[in-house]
Amino acid sequence: MKKRILFVDDEQRLLQGLQRMLRPVRDRWEMAFVESGPAALELLSREPFDVVVTDMRMPGMGGAELLAEVRKRHPQIIRFVFSGQSDRELVFHAVGPAHQFIAKPTDPETLKSAINRALTLRELLLGEKMRKLVARIRVLPSLPDVYVQVLESLRSQDPSLKQVGALIEKDLGMSSKVLQLVNSAFFGLPQRVTSPSQAVGLLGLDIIQALVLVFNVFSQFQGLNETIPGLNLNTIQAHSLAVGSYARAIAKMEGLGKVETDAAFMAGLFHDIGKLVLVSNLPQSCFQVVSLARERHLVLPVAEETVFGATHAPVGAFLLGLWGFSDPVVEACAYHHRPGVTQRKAFDVITAVHVANVIDCEMRRVNTFNAWGQFDMYYLKELGVDHHIAQWRKVCQVMKQEGANN
Ligand SMILES: [Fe+2]
Ligand SMILES: [Fe+2]
Repeated sequence: MKKRILFVDDEQRLLQGLQRMLRPVRDRWEMAFVESGPAALELLSREPFDVVVTDMRMPGMGGAELLAEVRKRHPQIIRFVFSGQSDRELVFHAVGPAHQFIAKPTDPETLKSAINRALTLRELLLGEKMRKLVARIRVLPSLPDVYVQVLESLRSQDPSLKQVGALIEKDLGMSSKVLQLVNSAFFGLPQRVTSPSQAVGLLGLDIIQALVLVFNVFSQFQGLNETIPGLNLNTIQAHSLAVGSYARAIAKMEGLGKVETDAAFMAGLFHDIGKLVLVSNLPQSCFQVVSLARERHLVLPVAEETVFGATHAPVGAFLLGLWGFSDPVVEACAYHHRPGVTQRKAFDVITAVHVANVIDCEMRRVNTFNAWGQFDMYYLKELGVDHHIAQWRKVCQVMKQEGANN
């Protein structure tokens, strides 16, 4: 079936250019072009679309406002911002993380591949096998109150760091956990951080918010320890924090920018969250996974695939999508065991999380339900980064050692 894409831009010339540029994909995409937000909403109310791509600065209803409406009225539609590179930060704050950004001007290939990527990810997460599995899942971890409040305060007209910090400070246990991690070698900050607002100022809100969320989610699941033999929540949490920090450091080493390194950190924190969802909802089947893996000497994802028809990776990605994380974070979670299936040709957030996961598993010397990893060597060779592995390992080892000495 053809995918339906709606482009919104007040500049008619730009729309015509896009139309020309995308003519070759007319056999796969059905495209519509409108010049304003209200016109877009009107069309969306009449016809189904898979993707909306909008400009940011338009007279009357701007892109941020349009996307907020689209999110409310048609949450299943993939939302893209197509805007000048200089708007990137602005876009991020105005629209929130649940969007994709394409910098203007762009070439047809970049535009096509960005949209195709989002469509593929959605297919993976909403495909037949996943739908069947998700239908068996009754309880998903909830977003903690403090997290929701932080999000709300961010959406307010004038979000201040102090205000957000104060919200986190209200929960003393949370605040001390966050500060402990921020002050550890994982972040390598030059100064000691003494308050959540200071942490937000130094590391950015996304990072601190993700930490609040991860600690909270793991505490929601504490009762699951040993639900299946060998399942240890503390090990998964420690592994998750390490993978987040290593992925961030490796992404930095490879020259990714702040948005990507932050995404690598968040994806690392949550890459195995699908395990918690599976264990809490389907403990019997997880027990089967572990026995099967042991009996037939299968690696965990293969055993999961046999029992569930999918692994914990897309299950986690599905949850992150629901929580409103951006596509790069969701993707990195979805593909953390098999980054090669994305057929990407450059080092990105997915690569960072994939290698960080393997390195942490190596250092823990485990390949169990708590952690599992093996390099996708073919993919890393294709990217031309296979010879960086030794260097990545070294950086992670140093972080780990310094963390232990703290
Ligand atoms: Fe995993
Ligand atoms: Fe993992």
